[in-house]
Amino acid sequence: MSSRIRLARVDEVREGRPISVEAAGTKIALFSKAGTIYATENVCPHLGAPLIDGVVIGTEITCRWHLWSFDLLTGECTSNSLAPKGLRIFPVTIEGGEVWVEV
Ligand code: FES
Repeated sequence: MSSRIRLARVDEVREGRPISVEAAGTKIALFSKAGTIYATENVCPHLGAPLIDGVVIGTEITCRWHLWSFDLLTGECTSNSLAPKGLRIFPVTIEGGEVWVEV
């Protein structure tokens, strides 16, 4: 069962300056890119690097530790077809200038 949780104000999530928050016991990274806010688990599914340190290009994030890349919309690993699992992502909604996610 998921919960809908407010994570931040929209103006706290700036492009190039992701933030990390914790909600329902889950570490979440919020990224802004081209006016859209994305929420992912802040732990790389490869070996656990903090994805908040990753590089976002378009709708893809690349982990700095071993350069695995993930689609911010689907969580799919786009750099390694043998990756056993993708990145957990969370649906984002914006209401009243605030960022909400389903966790
Ligand atoms: S820990 Fe992220 S690619 Fe290895």
